[in-house]
Amino acid sequence: MTKIGILLGSLRKESFSKKIAANVAALFPEGMEAEFVEIGNLPLYNQDFDDENNAPAEYTTFRNKMKEIDAVLFVTPEYNRSVPAVLKNALDVGSRPYGASVWSGKPAAIISQSPGNLSGFGANHHLRQSLVFLNMPTVQQPEAYIGNVAALLDENGKLKDENTVQFLQTFADAFVDLIKRHQA
Ligand code: FNR
Repeated sequence: MTKIGILLGSLRKESFSKKIAANVAALFPEGMEAEFVEIGNLPLYNQDFDDENNAPAEYTTFRNKMKEIDAVLFVTPEYNRSVPAVLKNALDVGSRPYGASVWSGKPAAIISQSPGNLSGFGANHHLRQSLVFLNMPTVQQPEAYIGNVAALLDENGKLKDENTVQFLQTFADAFVDLIKRHQA
């Protein structure tokens, strides 16, 4: 079983990112299981905690969880033209202690969304920049920018726009191909 961890850039209960992610989770084939990974409980990264004996329990739990995960799907809004702090914090926590990053070599994919037209482009690309440094091979094409997100979902959070479902299926297929290439 290949495990895909979903990390969200929003803690909001009714988050559009979460709803889009739940729709995408259903598009992976048998043998690939997607699960949400909690990041909202992580204390702000502090380098003083790099000493394992000093690390908050939440850091250790998160790092151990990510070690079990084979690939990472990021679904995020844009905050002030960049990556929401909660998601950047999770990247930072997972990247340390130095030499023990949980990210290196793990395939990744990014979806950004917004209720407006710009679709989280800034967050998508700032996140992509961090993933380059973290050595995460990331789906290049198709790029996934979901704009006007509120209009695409029904009252149960299910995608009602068939074109978007088809697009996200193509995106999920590209991610699956990338994961398989890295497992070969
Ligand atoms: C936003 N929003 C926003 N939208 C955008 O397209 N570009 C931006 O730079 C910002 N900046 C921003 C900052 C902060 C602090 C908030 C709270 C919101 C709006 C944002 O896209 C919208 O609230 C989304 O619905 C957030 O995603 P979730 O929580 O629905 O997943």
